[in-house]
Amino acid sequence: MVSRVHGRSVLRIEKLRLAVSGRHLFGTLSCELRSGESAVLCGPSGTGKTTLLNCIMGLTTPDDGAIYVAGENILEMPKRRLAEHRRTYIGMVFQFGELLPELSPVENVAIAALLAGQPRRKAYQDAEALLGDLGVPVSGTPTGLLSGGERQRTAVARALITEPVLLLADEPTGALDREARESVADLLFTLPRVRDCALLVVTHDEAVAGRADRRFDLRGGDLAETRA
Ligand SMILES: Nc1ncnc2c1ncn2[C@@H]1O[C@H](COP(=O)(O)OP(=O)(O)O)[C@@H](O)[C@H]1O
Ligand SMILES: [Mg+2]
Repeated sequence: MVSRVHGRSVLRIEKLRLAVSGRHLFGTLSCELRSGESAVLCGPSGTGKTTLLNCIMGLTTPDDGAIYVAGENILEMPKRRLAEHRRTYIGMVFQFGELLPELSPVENVAIAALLAGQPRRKAYQDAEALLGDLGVPVSGTPTGLLSGGERQRTAVARALITEPVLLLADEPTGALDREARESVADLLFTLPRVRDCALLVVTHDEAVAGRADRRFDLRGGDLAETRA
């Protein structure tokens, strides 16, 4: 287990290089994130932001470089260990939540805990408690019938149930109206301190970007850091 000492490096990317369809997405891309820190990743559509998150999750293999998650280079791991490492250390929130609409929020969140090997009873209890903390009404209502903001809070809960050291989010407020956007952004940016994780959010939304500790812009195949 990785110790939860505040400020520990949880993501370190070194000289990442990737070309897709003959186009160089990443040249020598490097960055580091520590627990307790939040960062946003900005940049025009098509520059490779989602691809970078996929690389960090070990779903896309770059051509060269290293990606240390919780101190271990995931590019040197065999597939099975990589999947386990991802489940243990990374939580991911997608733009449209990617939840199962027929299931209740508790079921959606508990599934992630069950897949991580938690006993059934604990998975359901933890899911209920976490949803309560995050302000999602705990009832049998199918997730598909919740408001957009409640669904995204459920998606955040599902990402957090395994207590990840690294929380990734790909345009998590992109499909929300203004009020829900504010409340989901408020929630996300409290997490690094409250849960002692690092948070990396891809966003186009300047109001969201302004809340982060650090800001990276993806241009010319590298990350340029500017103050958030
Ligand atoms: N597996 C792949 N094969 C070919 N092209 C890809 C692949 N993954 C991404 N791309 C291309 O890489 C570029 C960056 O995509 P993406 O990471 O989705 O950008 P962003 O999230 O910044 O909008 C796009 O032009 C996309 O079509
Ligand atoms: Mg994208």
